[in-house]
Amino acid sequence: MLGTVAAAVLGSIYLAESQFSIRNDLRHFRSVSTALKNHGSVEREDKIHLYYRFRDRAKATPHNVFLVFEGRSYTYRELELASNRLAHWLLDQKVKPQDVVCMMEQNHPTFFITFWAILKIGAIPALINTNLNEDALLHCLFIADSRFFLFDPLFEAQVATVADTAREKGMKLYAYGESTEFNSMTTSTLGLALTPNVLSNYSDKDTDESLLRGITALTPGMLIYTSGTTGFPKAAIVQHARLNGTMWANSVLSGISKDDTSYCCLPLYHSAGLFMATHITLSVGAKLVVARKFSVTRFWDDVYTNNVTVFFYIGELCRYLMNRAPHPLERKHKLHTVYGNGMPPELWNKFRKRFGIKNIAEFYGATEGPGGTFNYNQGPKTAGAVGHLGPLVRRFLRSDLKIIKIDPITEEPVRNSKGFCVECKYDEPGELLIGLDGQGGRKRFDGYYKNKEATEKKLLYNVFQKNDRYFRSGDLIRMNSKGLFYFMDRLGDTFRWHAENVATTEVSQVVVKYPSIAEANVYGVKVPGHDGRAGMVALILHQDKALDFADFYQYLAKRLPKYAIPLFIRFVPSMNLTGTMKIQKMAFRDQGIDKVPENEQPIYWLKNKTYVPFTAEDYAQVAAGKHKL
Ligand SMILES: *[C@@H]1O[C@H](CO)[C@@H](O)[C@H](O)[C@H]1NC(C)=O
Ligand SMILES: *[C@@H]1O[C@H](CO)[C@@H](O)[C@H](O)[C@H]1NC(C)=O
Ligand SMILES: *[C@@H]1O[C@H](CO)[C@@H](O)[C@H](O)[C@H]1NC(C)=O
Ligand SMILES: *[C@@H]1O[C@H](CO)[C@@H](O)[C@H](O)[C@H]1NC(C)=O
Ligand SMILES: *[C@@H]1O[C@H](CO)[C@@H](O)[C@H](O)[C@H]1NC(C)=O
Repeated sequence: MLGTVAAAVLGSIYLAESQFSIRNDLRHFRSVSTALKNHGSVEREDKIHLYYRFRDRAKATPHNVFLVFEGRSYTYRELELASNRLAHWLLDQKVKPQDVVCMMEQNHPTFFITFWAILKIGAIPALINTNLNEDALLHCLFIADSRFFLFDPLFEAQVATVADTAREKGMKLYAYGESTEFNSMTTSTLGLALTPNVLSNYSDKDTDESLLRGITALTPGMLIYTSGTTGFPKAAIVQHARLNGTMWANSVLSGISKDDTSYCCLPLYHSAGLFMATHITLSVGAKLVVARKFSVTRFWDDVYTNNVTVFFYIGELCRYLMNRAPHPLERKHKLHTVYGNGMPPELWNKFRKRFGIKNIAEFYGATEGPGGTFNYNQGPKTAGAVGHLGPLVRRFLRSDLKIIKIDPITEEPVRNSKGFCVECKYDEPGELLIGLDGQGGRKRFDGYYKNKEATEKKLLYNVFQKNDRYFRSGDLIRMNSKGLFYFMDRLGDTFRWHAENVATTEVSQVVVKYPSIAEANVYGVKVPGHDGRAGMVALILHQDKALDFADFYQYLAKRLPKYAIPLFIRFVPSMNLTGTMKIQKMAFRDQGIDKVPENEQPIYWLKNKTYVPFTAEDYAQVAAGKHKL
């Protein structure tokens, strides 16, 4: 129906706008209608539960290959049977529907076996970031409020840092992963190892389907951890309904079909690897090639030998590929689409040309965000944009996306005399907001697991009228008159580094507890040749105290994830406050690492587990791409 309406006005608009816009718009309509249609049908059949997306494929095409890992293929049936066994073992441990089970698994078939085993008994997987240890890991385990923790023995040393405390709080630890499932030799000093010997006592028959019935679209499906604006990582609730948007809508947006082969080297515990790569691929019945991690040296061989057609990226990976010397296979592959987030704006056309790739499908959105934008790009006209709402979409779909003016000093929304926010004009950067329905409506923010305060912080009320509600993206975006969205920056209290969001307040809270430090101001700075922002901290020490740099680094390394440890330090005479008594970050941020006033102490940078002076020579090295941070 939308198609007919669209066709009617197509003629008039077509002349005025590029065909890119029209094609992008039609894709947009198709994605919405596919998501609605599929959602309607699973709702009628009481099959909203996410596990059905795998189960239905496993029943329909059991002998098709779903997964390829290091040259070995895994059929749906194989993965189904292995996960059935583990599921029966979980049932034997008295895991009940809606219980949370933490899993810390690497990119490997055992990730999926664990994930589906937990899902199919109606429990909720909490996907633990495999880089964590110490306090951050403990924090993630506790906020999930879970009694069960399955970890790959590969992470034994990290898990050992929290094992005693976790057990004291009543948590049970089990080793399950690559070496237990496939090498049956493993023992673990931390908990029972689920070797084939143990699991062979359990049935590989299907678990009872009634465990999956009767849930609604709003029931939590899994927990994915995200670093937000304050505190340690937060557990974002992902409702079953959200996959409606990500899986069906995005599979249309990405243009993927059953004949494609996807390549995922992004961590599966994050949404890009799990929702985007895995679920998009699953939704059309295509094949997924998983790599343990991204390797710039192996990339083209992997893509070539596996006949990969779709690559799921984050921007940094594209930069690594571009920085590398030509590879004999870089134009001899079947890759036609790259799909992902954060492709550096200046690289789009070069990337397409150099590697001979037809489609760049860029999306913008957060794990917990109730919406996002999308740009299906095939040429220079729309290159660099993270979103594209063409003329048809803008005319026929009510957009929930608004860009509002932000005070550059306080970074708070600007309010007019009536107390409402002010929309930006074309090309004016402002914070992107996503509109939400009232309580119980469909367009909602799932929130953070058992964390009301953090959930509320992401919401903005009375934006354009009394009692309306919007989700705050925390990102500065600008939109031009053609409906193209461009990403400008993160707002001040978070920044992105190595594809992770770093919360400056979280880092500050850790830094200021260090004995000789009186005040700290953490922010992100631009570094030539690097995406996102590197962490920097401006410090004021207590009177007559000095900073023991090596000790300070050890202190930070114990308490912060690696990507959050400041790479640069500077010492300042005073911390300037804003009118609302907040620490003024903007000026520091703008001075970055190359515009610090000369009368101040030198900047220090992290090298060999301590901080040393950062010289002009060092800067030149970094700028010349000779030193990667
Ligand atoms: C499913 O997705 C469509 C399109 O994105 C959206 O309008 C609808 O509200 C979603 N349904 C649910 C239950 O989330
Ligand atoms: C498997 O079950 C058998 C029979 O119930 C039991 O004797 C054996 O100890 C079990 N093996 C393991 C590894 O749990
Ligand atoms: C890739 O494609 C080639 C030719 O189309 C075929 O011979 C080869 O078996 C394929 N390889 C894989 C891993 O599918
Ligand atoms: C802080 O305030 C002082 C005095 O107003 C000013 O000279 C200085 O440049 C400010 N520093 C920054 C980083 O804005
Ligand atoms: C790193 O620091 C350690 C201990 O201070 C020192 O022994 C080592 O030589 C340093 N390595 C480099 C590459 O500077």
